[in-house]
Order: sequence, then structure tokens, then C-alpha cells
Amino acid sequence: MSSKDPLLQPYQLKHLTLKNRIMTTSHEPAYPEDGMPKERYRAYHEERAKGGVALTMTAGSAAVSRDSPPVFNNILAYKDEVVPWLKDVVDSCHEHGAAVMIQLTHLGRRTGWNKGDWLPAVSPSHLREASHRAFPKKMEDWDIARIIEDYADAAERMHAAGMDGIELEAYGHLMDQFWSPATNTLESAYGGSLDNRMRFTLDVLSAIRKRVGEEFIVGIRCVADEQMDGGLTKEEGMEICTKLKDSGKIDFLNIIRGHIDTDPGLTDVIPVQGMANSPHLDFAGEVREHTKFPTFHAAKIPDVATARHAIAEGKLDMVGMTRAHIADPHIVRKIIEGREEEIRPCVGATYCLDRIYQGGEALCIHNVATGRELSVPHVAEPASEKKKLIVVGAGPAGMEAARVGAERGHDVTVIEAANNAGGQIALTALSERRREMMNIIDWRVDQCERMGVNFKFNTWAEAEDVKAMDPDMVVIATGGMPDTEVLTSGNDLVVSGWDIISGDAKPGQNVLLYDDAGDHVAMQAAEVLAKSGASVEIMTPDRTFAPDVMAMNLTPYMRELQKRDVTFTVTYRLKEIHREGNQLRAVYGSDYSDLTKEKMFDQVIVNHGTLPLDDIYFDLKPDSVNLGELDHQALLAHKPQQVNSNPDGKFQLFRIGDAVSARNTHAAIYDAMRLMKDN
Ligand SMILES: Cc1cc2nc3c(=O)[nH]c(=O)nc-3n(C[C@H](O)[C@H](O)[C@H](O)COP(=O)(O)O)c2cc1C
Ligand code: SF4
Repeated sequence: MSSKDPLLQPYQLKHLTLKNRIMTTSHEPAYPEDGMPKERYRAYHEERAKGGVALTMTAGSAAVSRDSPPVFNNILAYKDEVVPWLKDVVDSCHEHGAAVMIQLTHLGRRTGWNKGDWLPAVSPSHLREASHRAFPKKMEDWDIARIIEDYADAAERMHAAGMDGIELEAYGHLMDQFWSPATNTLESAYGGSLDNRMRFTLDVLSAIRKRVGEEFIVGIRCVADEQMDGGLTKEEGMEICTKLKDSGKIDFLNIIRGHIDTDPGLTDVIPVQGMANSPHLDFAGEVREHTKFPTFHAAKIPDVATARHAIAEGKLDMVGMTRAHIADPHIVRKIIEGREEEIRPCVGATYCLDRIYQGGEALCIHNVATGRELSVPHVAEPASEKKKLIVVGAGPAGMEAARVGAERGHDVTVIEAANNAGGQIALTALSERRREMMNIIDWRVDQCERMGVNFKFNTWAEAEDVKAMDPDMVVIATGGMPDTEVLTSGNDLVVSGWDIISGDAKPGQNVLLYDDAGDHVAMQAAEVLAKSGASVEIMTPDRTFAPDVMAMNLTPYMRELQKRDVTFTVTYRLKEIHREGNQLRAVYGSDYSDLTKEKMFDQVIVNHGTLPLDDIYFDLKPDSVNLGELDHQALLAHKPQQVNSNPDGKFQLFRIGDAVSARNTHAAIYDAMRLMKDN
């Protein structure tokens, strides 16, 4: 599209010219070290700035007070030492023409007391937040006065760091805990009427303005309808937005609809794959219409067409494409270069966000360079020597190896037994809700085709065929097959989760699904079973079910499974299955004691990961120069593989992904990228 593209038009926010209409809203990727945004943080934002985004809202919930402890490794904005680190981030992004702001907050009750300095969480009531579980202290006047000053101090630090502005977080955090009748039981001047409930915010804004002046940009990311019994209504939300605008103390609104105090609530605010796209866009447009004030918004606007529509139709002034930029930091550059269809799609897997709530750092399920900018390139370097590369297997690992190999200029052939690429992802995508996962494969197929990769489908690769092609390097990415042999008796009587998902096994009526892996396969199979009308019990030896599915990804499963009365039994280990007529007797016990129990079912499913499909690897191994060895030192030092343990060998041989051991999609793709980027 030409520069008439609505998305590429500049936007004037006070004195600040934003060069286009695309921003990333604040999202704490949990990369800080000791609470400081160091090199990794800087490189992450710089990559997005290089990619052309107009505004990057850094941090996400940077803490203004010590009693707002870092619940997911947030930036500690209450420390003076944050200023030079942030200045580095700002300077790097400014060099590429991106504006930089930061989100500040006090989490209130949305945190835990046993983190940071072990100070009690505070809130305008004693009410606990279900997700974070702290029972907060009900705030006193001196808490309020202290935290108002903390906000002002933090804002002053951000000003000193050269930020273009700040945004205050007011959804699910302290600021709107004051606003919401559901979380404010104060009887002082800060509780009761809406004006009283807004007093804390307006006091904070006055204190900030005193420190940073009228010019500095100050916005607010706020809920304008909690969609919750007893919470803020849309009418009150609109009134709050109007009052904030009329205060003359803020410069933009960044609109949120919903509540985040529970995992399902959070998932409706930030929808995951399979949920509707842009569900709150029209609502944000209504706020803009109502207030006639600069309005930003993000919530599952994953594609450029929807973003363009949001701007063209006047629903927003700036459109947030946050996860979209985690998946591809170069979106704007690709739009400008007319390469829109080459944008790596965000598939809504929300591996990124779910991980930070489990104490990990944000990683993209299929862009392994994100958050690893210091060591993994978003675009691979050309290789010094062109190799003939054969990849066996066209699942996520094989497709990434082929893509990166081709990007480096190698001559690449992919051999796949099935009639199409996909591997395990093709199975995953059989679920209507998880269909978007297939974009992980489709994008790679498209990229490979553009770069001339040769595909041989419907071809079972034998070692002799591979050797006859005279390769320099062979990468085995053949994946695995379900391992259901976990019982001391009756292994032949069970089927795998994959059998149910693929339709190879017909669902029974009274089914035990024994999940000893805790991943998506079990949940997905349970959904197929429950939807077929079966009565389903999910049993796991773990303390919780589905630990690897994580909080937001679990939401759509639970909505389907609870509707259909699926039961969950934790801490029990299935031991034996015995046939009795047309029934199966399940014998199970517990790791905690030697008790034994029994129950009757007509079908038993076992989910226990996969075992590698590695025959071809071992067949090729004797003829390889490295005897299949992967030099970990070289791999981790980002150096080429140079093992030469077999001087008679003809080619380098490696295996990646589940062909080595059962892991997940990110691990498979990371295996491939790490190997190929230096070889
Ligand atoms: C890893 C991650 C961390 C996030 N942390 C914050 C945060 O601290 N504050 C916030 O307001 N939003 C946070 N968000 C939400 C995003 O700003 C955004 O609203 C959300 O991802 C929906 O937009 P999208 O569909 O364009 O990704 C986070 C999102 C992600 C993916
Ligand atoms: S993990 Fe999924 S949701 Fe997050 S950025 Fe990557 S593709 Fe998008």
C-alpha cells in the first residue's frame, strides 16, 4: 500500500509526532535483571523500533512503591538506579525514530506479600484477588499519601530518563481498585461516591504534574466497563473517562474492557487463540466517540487488515499490536516495503503471557529470536559456504531448519512422509479452537517456497536415499510417536490422546483419560471425548492437572469441559488395566502411600508424551562425520559445529525437536534455529 495507508499516517499527540498509527502497548516480558531493564531489555525494544513501530510503551506495571512487589519480574521504578538503564532503552529506540513511553503502577492487591520486601499488599478493601491470592491490608490515610508521592517520584524518574511520556495502569491495579465499587470499601474521602473513588487518581495526577510539568505526556490505561457483577458499569466507565479528560491532567486514554482478577477474566480482556478477534475494538471506538479524546487500544488485533480498519473507521487514534510484534517485530517495515503477506503471524498461542505468570520470561511459541535479540537474529545471516542440506520431517522443527537454512543461502530439500507439512501441529490444528496454530507451519512453507526450498512429500526417507543425494548436512526432525507404555499390566488395552484427536480411535462412553504429561494433548483429547457425549474423568499423578497448559490457555478448555461435567482427579497414578467383558477395570494408586483403588471404564486413554522416531538417524549415523554428535559448547557459544569423529564420514548429521526427546513447539523450533543460524 502507498503512503495513503491509514496506518502509515503520522499522529500528533500534543508536541509529539508519532510516525504512524501502530504501537505496542505495555507488556512486561519479565526480562529485567535485579529489577533493571538492562541489555536484553534494550535490545528487545530496539528491535521493535528498528521494525518501524511508532510508539513502544515499555515496561508494563513498573512498580512505583516498595509495597507493589514485582509479581512477574517488573521494572522497579521506585529505584533511582533505573534512570540510566531506561535512558539507554530510550536512546536506542529514538535512534530508529520510535517514541518511547513507560507504564507505571501500584499493583495494590494484585500481587503477593511473600515477594520483594515482604511488605503487606494494600488495597482500598480487605478483599482478596483470586489470581494473586494476597489478603490485602485496607489502606490508611498515610498509605494513600505515601503512594501518591511514590507515583510522583517515579514519574520524575521517567522524565529524567528522557521518556516521551508515561501511562498509568488502571485496570485490576490499585488505581482502579479505588474506582470499582467491588474493591473499595473505604468510608473516607477516598470511598463512596464516584468522585470520592476517583480522588486518589486525581491526587496522583496533580502530584505528577507538579513534578513533570504540563508538557510531559501523561496517559492512562483504564478499564471503562468491568463487565462484572458489582463492578464498574459502562455508564460509570464513560463518566470516569470524561472526568479524566475534563481534569486537563491527562493526554490520552488507552481503553480496556473487562476484569483481570481471575484467569478467565484476564483471558476475556486479552483473548487467546480460538477466541474472537478485536472483541473490544468497537467499545474503545465508543469511548473515543464519547470523549473526543486521543484513544489507544489493544486486544487481539493480530492482523494488519483489522488494524487498518480500526484507524480508517476512526475507532482509534493508535492501534496496539502487542503480541503481533512479539511474533514479528518488523511489521511496519514489511507494510512499508509491500511485504505485508510475509509478516510472521501471531497465532494467539499466548505462550508469551502465560509464561510470565509462571515465573518465566516471555517467549514466543514460534519466534525464538524474540527476547533473545542479543544472540539469535530475527533475520539469519548469509552463510559463508553454501551447503546441500537435507531435512527429514516437515513438522515445526524441520520447517524451521529448512527456513533458516534457506535464509542463509543453503540448497535445501525437505523430505516428509505425509502429504503435507505440519507434523504434530497438523494434529493440534484439527481442533477448531486451535486452527490458528497451523499458521506456524503455513508461514514457514510460504517462506521456504519463496526461497526455493525443494519439498518431497509422500516420501518415506530411507538412509540409502538420503546418502544418494550426496548432502553436506542432514537434519533429522522426524518427531515422535505417543508413548503409552506406562502400566505394569494392560498396556495393550489403552489408546493414546493422539488416537482420539486424530479420530483413529472412536470415543467410548465412560472414559478415563490418564494424563502423565500435563500438556495440551490431554486437554484437547478430553474436549473431543466430552463433545462426543462421553462421560470423562481426567486423572493425573501430579498435584494439579495440565500444568504445562498454563492459566490463560486453560480457560477455553475449562469452559468446554466444565459445561460437560468432566471430572478431575489429581494425585493418583494409574497402574493396571484389566479386561472384564466389554469393560476395563482400572487399578490405580498414589505416590503418597500404598493405597490401591479400582474403577470401571469402557475406554482408557493414556497421555505420556512421545518417544523419538529415530530409526533413520541411527541408520545414517555411521556414515556421518560427527557420528551425530552435537557440540554443546559450540552451540551455546554461537559457533559452527566442527566435530569430526569419523574421518570417513560424508556429511554432518544432527537431530532436533521431538526426534531427540518429547518437548514443546518452542523447544523444537529453538533447536532448529540454534543449530542452523551458525551452520
Ligand atoms: C508478556 C505480556 C505481558 C503483559 N504485561 C502487561 C502489563 O504489565 N501491563 C499492561 O497493561 N498490559 C500488559 N500486557 C497486555 C498487553 O499490553 C495487551 O493489552 C495484550 O497483549 C492484548 O493486546 P494484543 O492482542 O495486541 O497482544 C501484557 C501482554 C503480554 C503478552
Ligand atoms: S506466543 Fe503466541 S500469542 Fe504470544 S506472540 Fe507468539 S504467536 Fe503470538
